[in-house]
Amino acid sequence: MINEILAAIENRSALDIIRYVDEKFGDQVVFSTSFGIEDQVITHLLAETKSKASLFTLDTGRLFPETYSVWNKTLSRYKLPIATYYPNTEALQQLLTEKGPLSFYESVENRKECCGIRKVEPLNRALKGFKVWLTGIRAEQSPNREHMLSVEWDEGHQLLKIHPLFHWSLQEVELFLKENNVPYNALHNKGFPSIGCQPCTRAVQPGEDQRAGRWWWEDQSKKECGLHTTRTA
Ligand code: ADX
Ligand code: SF4
Repeated sequence: MINEILAAIENRSALDIIRYVDEKFGDQVVFSTSFGIEDQVITHLLAETKSKASLFTLDTGRLFPETYSVWNKTLSRYKLPIATYYPNTEALQQLLTEKGPLSFYESVENRKECCGIRKVEPLNRALKGFKVWLTGIRAEQSPNREHMLSVEWDEGHQLLKIHPLFHWSLQEVELFLKENNVPYNALHNKGFPSIGCQPCTRAVQPGEDQRAGRWWWEDQSKKECGLHTTRTA
Protein backbone atom coordinates (compact mmCIF):
# COMPACT_ATOMS: atom_id res chain seq x y z
CA MET A 1 0.00 0.00 0.00
CA ILE A 2 2.69 2.49 1.03
CA ASN A 3 4.83 1.68 -1.99
CA GLU A 4 1.85 2.05 -4.29
CA ILE A 5 1.04 5.48 -2.86
CA LEU A 6 4.68 6.55 -2.81
CA ALA A 7 4.98 5.65 -6.49
CA ALA A 8 1.75 7.50 -7.29
CA ILE A 9 2.78 10.74 -5.57
CA GLU A 10 6.53 10.73 -6.19
CA ASN A 11 7.51 13.83 -8.19
CA ARG A 12 3.90 15.07 -8.28
CA SER A 13 2.87 18.57 -7.31
CA ALA A 14 1.19 19.15 -3.93
CA LEU A 15 -2.03 19.93 -5.80
CA ASP A 16 -1.88 16.56 -7.59
CA ILE A 17 -1.09 14.76 -4.32
CA ILE A 18 -4.09 16.32 -2.62
CA ARG A 19 -6.34 15.42 -5.57
CA TYR A 20 -5.01 11.85 -5.59
CA VAL A 21 -5.58 11.41 -1.85
CA ASP A 22 -9.08 12.86 -2.19
CA GLU A 23 -10.01 10.48 -5.01
CA LYS A 24 -8.57 7.46 -3.25
CA PHE A 25 -9.64 8.08 0.37
CA GLY A 26 -12.40 10.75 0.25
CA ASP A 27 -13.77 11.62 3.68
CA GLN A 28 -11.42 9.22 5.47
CA VAL A 29 -8.73 11.90 5.32
CA VAL A 30 -7.95 14.38 8.08
CA PHE A 31 -5.55 17.33 8.04
CA SER A 32 -3.95 18.75 11.19
CA THR A 33 -3.25 22.46 11.06
CA SER A 34 -1.24 24.59 13.47
CA PHE A 35 -1.68 27.53 11.05
CA GLY A 36 2.03 27.44 10.24
CA ILE A 37 3.06 28.54 6.76
CA GLU A 38 3.09 24.98 5.39
CA ASP A 39 -0.33 24.29 6.87
CA GLN A 40 -1.69 27.43 5.23
CA VAL A 41 -0.55 26.17 1.81
CA ILE A 42 -2.33 22.87 2.41
CA THR A 43 -5.52 24.55 3.65
CA HIS A 44 -5.50 26.70 0.49
CA LEU A 45 -5.13 23.60 -1.70
CA LEU A 46 -7.85 21.69 0.17
CA ALA A 47 -10.22 24.61 -0.37
CA GLU A 48 -9.24 25.01 -4.03
CA THR A 49 -9.82 21.34 -4.78
CA LYS A 50 -13.02 21.19 -2.71
CA SER A 51 -11.49 18.24 -0.90
CA LYS A 52 -13.62 15.98 1.28
CA ALA A 53 -10.91 15.93 3.97
CA SER A 54 -11.69 17.16 7.50
CA LEU A 55 -9.49 19.73 9.25
CA PHE A 56 -8.59 20.03 12.91
CA THR A 57 -6.34 22.06 15.16
CA LEU A 58 -5.04 21.39 18.66
CA ASP A 59 -5.41 24.45 20.85
CA THR A 60 -2.86 23.86 23.59
CA GLY A 61 -3.99 26.94 25.51
CA ARG A 62 -0.49 28.41 25.18
CA LEU A 63 -0.57 29.66 21.57
CA PHE A 64 0.62 33.10 20.45
CA PRO A 65 -2.02 35.84 19.93
CA GLU A 66 -0.77 35.98 16.31
CA THR A 67 -1.77 32.33 15.88
CA TYR A 68 -5.35 33.04 16.98
CA SER A 69 -5.39 35.92 14.55
CA VAL A 70 -4.32 33.84 11.53
CA TRP A 71 -6.71 31.06 12.63
CA ASN A 72 -9.57 33.57 12.47
CA LYS A 73 -8.43 34.95 9.10
CA THR A 74 -8.25 31.39 7.77
CA LEU A 75 -11.86 30.72 8.78
CA SER A 76 -13.01 33.94 7.07
CA ARG A 77 -11.06 33.33 3.91
CA TYR A 78 -11.68 29.63 3.28
CA LYS A 79 -14.95 28.96 5.12
CA LEU A 80 -13.78 25.44 5.94
CA PRO A 81 -14.80 24.05 9.32
CA ILE A 82 -11.79 23.48 11.58
CA ALA A 83 -12.55 21.10 14.44
CA THR A 84 -10.80 22.25 17.61
CA TYR A 85 -9.42 19.96 20.27
CA TYR A 86 -8.51 21.00 23.80
CA PRO A 87 -6.51 19.24 26.49
CA ASN A 88 -8.37 17.13 29.00
CA THR A 89 -9.41 19.60 31.73
CA GLU A 90 -8.71 17.31 34.67
CA ALA A 91 -5.24 16.32 33.47
CA LEU A 92 -4.36 19.97 32.89
CA GLN A 93 -5.74 21.11 36.25
CA GLN A 94 -3.72 18.43 37.99
CA LEU A 95 -0.53 19.34 36.11
CA LEU A 96 -0.73 23.03 36.96
CA THR A 97 -1.85 22.40 40.52
CA GLU A 98 1.08 20.08 41.13
CA LYS A 99 3.81 21.73 39.06
CA GLY A 100 2.73 25.26 38.20
CA PRO A 101 2.50 26.94 34.78
CA LEU A 102 6.14 26.70 33.68
CA SER A 103 7.15 23.15 34.61
CA PHE A 104 8.30 22.43 31.03
CA TYR A 105 11.47 24.52 31.50
CA GLU A 106 12.62 22.31 34.38
CA SER A 107 13.32 19.00 32.61
CA VAL A 108 12.75 17.11 29.37
CA GLU A 109 10.40 14.78 31.28
CA ASN A 110 8.30 17.71 32.45
CA ARG A 111 8.28 19.18 28.96
CA LYS A 112 7.11 15.91 27.46
CA GLU A 113 4.48 15.63 30.15
CA CYS A 114 3.07 19.03 29.17
CA CYS A 115 3.20 18.18 25.42
CA GLY A 116 1.56 14.86 26.24
CA ILE A 117 -1.38 16.55 27.96
CA ARG A 118 -1.72 19.58 25.69
CA LYS A 119 -0.99 17.98 22.31
CA VAL A 120 -0.53 14.23 22.15
CA GLU A 121 -3.64 13.06 24.01
CA PRO A 122 -5.92 15.50 22.13
CA LEU A 123 -4.24 14.41 18.87
CA ASN A 124 -5.19 10.81 19.58
CA ARG A 125 -8.81 11.86 19.92
CA ALA A 126 -8.67 14.00 16.77
CA LEU A 127 -7.28 11.20 14.59
CA LYS A 128 -9.78 8.57 15.71
CA GLY A 129 -11.77 7.02 12.88
CA PHE A 130 -9.63 8.38 10.02
CA LYS A 131 -7.44 6.37 7.67
CA VAL A 132 -5.14 9.08 6.35
CA TRP A 133 -3.47 11.97 8.18
CA LEU A 134 -2.14 14.92 6.17
CA THR A 135 0.51 17.14 7.75
CA GLY A 136 2.61 20.13 6.73
CA ILE A 137 5.94 18.43 7.50
CA ARG A 138 8.86 19.22 5.17
CA ALA A 139 12.10 17.21 4.99
CA GLU A 140 14.18 20.38 5.19
CA GLN A 141 12.78 21.38 8.60
CA SER A 142 15.25 19.26 10.61
CA PRO A 143 17.87 16.53 10.25
CA ASN A 144 15.38 14.17 11.90
CA ARG A 145 12.69 14.90 9.31
CA GLU A 146 15.12 14.48 6.39
CA HIS A 147 15.09 10.76 7.11
CA MET A 148 11.33 10.48 6.90
CA LEU A 149 9.35 9.66 3.73
CA SER A 150 6.48 11.61 2.20
CA VAL A 151 4.23 8.63 3.02
CA GLU A 152 4.57 6.65 6.25
CA TRP A 153 2.63 4.07 8.22
CA ASP A 154 1.92 5.48 11.67
CA GLU A 155 1.96 2.39 13.85
CA GLY A 156 0.82 4.22 16.98
CA HIS A 157 -2.28 5.68 15.35
CA GLN A 158 -2.75 2.89 12.81
CA LEU A 159 -3.10 5.16 9.80
CA LEU A 160 -1.24 6.45 6.78
CA LYS A 161 0.55 9.72 7.22
CA ILE A 162 1.12 11.81 4.11
CA HIS A 163 3.15 15.01 3.86
CA PRO A 164 2.16 16.74 0.58
CA LEU A 165 4.86 19.44 0.92
CA PHE A 166 7.60 17.04 1.95
CA HIS A 167 10.04 18.13 -0.77
CA TRP A 168 9.25 21.86 -0.68
CA SER A 169 11.85 24.40 0.38
CA LEU A 170 11.07 27.30 2.72
CA GLN A 171 11.39 29.65 -0.28
CA GLU A 172 8.82 27.66 -2.26
CA VAL A 173 6.37 27.86 0.64
CA GLU A 174 6.89 31.62 0.97
CA LEU A 175 6.45 32.15 -2.78
CA PHE A 176 3.19 30.17 -2.80
CA LEU A 177 1.81 32.27 0.07
CA LYS A 178 2.70 35.46 -1.75
CA GLU A 179 1.42 34.46 -5.18
CA ASN A 180 -1.88 33.24 -3.76
CA ASN A 181 -2.27 35.93 -1.15
CA VAL A 182 -2.71 33.31 1.57
CA PRO A 183 -3.08 34.61 5.16
CA TYR A 184 -0.13 33.65 7.35
CA ASN A 185 1.13 34.12 10.90
CA ALA A 186 2.51 37.65 11.42
CA LEU A 187 5.38 36.16 13.46
CA HIS A 188 6.73 34.56 10.32
CA ASN A 189 8.16 37.91 9.14
CA LYS A 190 9.74 38.44 12.57
CA GLY A 191 12.14 35.48 12.41
CA PHE A 192 9.80 32.59 13.27
CA PRO A 193 10.04 29.89 10.56
CA SER A 194 8.46 27.33 12.91
CA ILE A 195 5.78 28.29 15.43
CA GLY A 196 4.40 26.25 18.30
CA CYS A 197 3.42 27.24 21.84
CA GLN A 198 4.42 30.74 22.97
CA PRO A 199 6.60 29.76 25.97
CA CYS A 200 8.45 27.16 23.88
CA THR A 201 9.08 29.08 20.65
CA ARG A 202 11.41 31.98 19.93
CA ALA A 203 12.78 33.70 16.82
CA VAL A 204 15.83 32.23 15.05
CA GLN A 205 18.90 34.12 13.91
CA PRO A 206 19.79 34.31 10.18
CA GLY A 207 21.53 31.06 9.18
CA GLU A 208 20.20 29.13 12.18
CA ASP A 209 18.24 25.89 11.79
CA GLN A 210 14.53 26.36 10.96
CA ARG A 211 13.53 24.65 14.21
CA ALA A 212 16.26 26.19 16.37
CA GLY A 213 13.68 28.38 18.09
CA ARG A 214 11.58 25.42 19.29
CA TRP A 215 12.45 24.15 22.83
CA TRP A 216 15.74 26.00 22.37
CA TRP A 217 16.96 25.15 25.87
CA GLU A 218 16.96 21.40 25.13
CA ASP A 219 19.36 19.10 23.27
CA GLN A 220 18.94 19.01 19.52
CA SER A 221 18.02 15.30 19.63
CA LYS A 222 15.05 15.80 21.97
CA LYS A 223 13.25 18.37 19.87
CA GLU A 224 10.01 16.63 18.92
CA CYS A 225 6.87 17.02 20.96
CA GLY A 226 5.44 13.59 20.35
CA LEU A 227 2.97 14.51 17.61
CA HIS A 228 5.29 12.99 15.04
CA THR A 229 6.77 10.05 16.84
CA THR A 230 5.13 6.66 17.25
CA ARG A 231 4.49 7.33 20.94
CA THR A 232 0.76 7.63 21.56
CA ALA A 233 1.01 8.75 25.18
S1 ADX B 1 5.76 19.92 16.16
O1 ADX B 1 5.67 18.46 16.36
O2 ADX B 1 7.14 20.42 16.18
O3 ADX B 1 4.86 20.68 17.05
P1 ADX B 1 5.49 21.33 13.72
O4 ADX B 1 5.18 22.62 14.40
O5 ADX B 1 6.80 21.19 13.05
O6 ADX B 1 5.23 20.10 14.72
O7 ADX B 1 4.33 21.05 12.68
C1 ADX B 1 4.33 19.92 11.84
C2 ADX B 1 2.91 19.53 11.54
O8 ADX B 1 2.31 19.01 12.73
C3 ADX B 1 2.02 20.66 11.11
O9 ADX B 1 2.15 20.87 9.72
C4 ADX B 1 0.67 20.15 11.51
O10 ADX B 1 0.18 19.24 10.53
C5 ADX B 1 0.95 19.38 12.78
N1 ADX B 1 0.75 20.22 13.98
C6 ADX B 1 1.70 20.78 14.77
N2 ADX B 1 1.14 21.48 15.78
C7 ADX B 1 -0.20 21.33 15.64
C8 ADX B 1 -1.35 21.83 16.34
N3 ADX B 1 -1.25 22.59 17.43
N4 ADX B 1 -2.58 21.50 15.86
C9 ADX B 1 -2.71 20.72 14.78
N5 ADX B 1 -1.68 20.24 14.07
C10 ADX B 1 -0.45 20.53 14.49
FE1 SF4 C 1 3.60 22.56 26.84
FE2 SF4 C 1 5.60 23.83 25.57
FE3 SF4 C 1 4.73 21.40 24.75
FE4 SF4 C 1 3.25 23.60 24.40
S1 SF4 C 1 5.24 23.13 23.42
S2 SF4 C 1 2.53 21.66 25.07
S3 SF4 C 1 3.67 24.73 26.33
S4 SF4 C 1 5.76 21.94 26.69
